[in-house]
Amino acid sequence: MNAPTNFDLDALKADLSAKSRELFIGGKYVPAASGETIDVVNPATGQSFATAAAGGEEDINRAVAAARKAFDGGWPQTSPAQRARLMLKLADLIEANADELAFTETLDNGMPLMMAKMGAVGAAAEQLRYNAGWATKITGETITPSFPGEWQCMTLRQPVGVVGAIVPWNFPFAMAVSKLAAALAAGCTIVLKPAEQTPLTAALLGRLIGEAGFPEGVVNIVTGYGHSAGAALAAHPDVNKVSFTGSTAIGKEIIRASTGNLKRVTLELGGKSPTVIFGDADLSKAIPSAAMGIFGNSGQVCAAGSRLFAHESVFEQVVEGISAMAQNLKVGSGLSPETQMGPLVSDKQQERVLSYIESGGSEGASVAVGGGTVTPEGCEGGYFVQPTVLTGTVSGMKVVEEEIFGPVLCAMRFGDDDIDMIAKSANASDYGLSSSIWTENITSALKLARRLEAGNVRINGVGGGVDPALPLGGFKQSGWGRECGRAGVEAYTELKTVSIGLG
Ligand code: NAI
Ligand code: MG
Repeated sequence: MNAPTNFDLDALKADLSAKSRELFIGGKYVPAASGETIDVVNPATGQSFATAAAGGEEDINRAVAAARKAFDGGWPQTSPAQRARLMLKLADLIEANADELAFTETLDNGMPLMMAKMGAVGAAAEQLRYNAGWATKITGETITPSFPGEWQCMTLRQPVGVVGAIVPWNFPFAMAVSKLAAALAAGCTIVLKPAEQTPLTAALLGRLIGEAGFPEGVVNIVTGYGHSAGAALAAHPDVNKVSFTGSTAIGKEIIRASTGNLKRVTLELGGKSPTVIFGDADLSKAIPSAAMGIFGNSGQVCAAGSRLFAHESVFEQVVEGISAMAQNLKVGSGLSPETQMGPLVSDKQQERVLSYIESGGSEGASVAVGGGTVTPEGCEGGYFVQPTVLTGTVSGMKVVEEEIFGPVLCAMRFGDDDIDMIAKSANASDYGLSSSIWTENITSALKLARRLEAGNVRINGVGGGVDPALPLGGFKQSGWGRECGRAGVEAYTELKTVSIGLG
């Protein structure tokens, strides 16, 4: 996907600025009932460049009614093969519109264009293709019970119903589509609520859903703020399930909002994921991977490796290596081809990250590299923070305990190879999303992998990312349930036991 692209960026910009992106409800684009809009800001410049409809409770009510109508009107009875075909068609349409979607994602979120192409468009298409395969493979079991008489018993997996999908701004398009993909495979209908910071690619998706031929109301998209549209969706009495990705604080709000009708809830929340580097690790791989594990997407990644634990025999070398990478990282607008790290998504996130760095300093941490803002050429007004490494960090400090969601690494050392001690340090967190282990000793790696309280453990892993086949989710306050893989599709089903008495 190396761009030389002859895509007409000026035409896209003109189009985005000329037309406020509307809500997609019941197969039609409509303005928000209130007529209100969201100003969409390019985080590389701080300039607003587009508007999107700010949907509220009334719009959510309309969208849920449309989703209910589609659910009751036969979407779950559509043959699995037909659902799969529609999903494959949508994947093709997304790829056919890859440039438009990727440039829009970069303008909206700030991520490097290459990442938008692979992390947004490519990942979304692959989620659809993978989950299209599941549509025809969702099965129950047959079970022989021990109660008296002769019985044929079986389980059915049926779609949970109308799904509310609430997604964040860090990988807006990929996350929206991955939730849609699993829900559609299971036979659910959906109301999608994108993040207010990044509404555009989801808003563009409506057109492609229409073109793919999905029946009206199967997918509805309501852009809007969390406190209005998001809260209304989470509390809606006719929504059967909410799938949420975002902060742990709002995840808890979602649970509270779900109690009215006890809707099902899955949560993919924050993290404070450890990267553990043993003394025998292959540092030529471990160092760049640890660096990109925290600086990739400017650290705005739920699974970012934000706590480093390196053996004291390699600690200095690891910190120097990561710091050198930080210094050489090309920070800039996501639109310029050499950019490796873009801005943070908003002024609010920039302030938040800077205040964490400041709090680290006041609690006794040292800045090994970075620590402030930076203004790349042509990006005056952008929300950039330098890739930063903090040393002298210890548990109890805010920077070690809390999710920063920026390019800030807390580097810590360990003295001996006692796996239980290392696991204890790595597990000393309210979160438990991801983790990464570097060692040439397979026994150490596997022992530690078994002890880590994390939904995902990666051993000696270079590159990669979210794969639609691999379950993703967290222990502890990193969430409830799993996305991706079989578990991810089954999370959109109810399990029903049917027992047939044979006399
Ligand atoms: P957030 O949790 O407020 O936003 C995520 C989504 O939830 C957005 O679509 C938002 O509109 C919606 N939302 C907000 N309030 C809601 C409510 N009361 N009811 C229903 N939906 C609601 O996250 P925010 O404030 O944008 O970011 C703050 C921090 O959250 C970040 O610094 C980071 O630590 C964490 N975060 C984690 C993410 C992850 O991937 N796990 C993604 C985004 C943020
Ligand atoms: Mg934006």
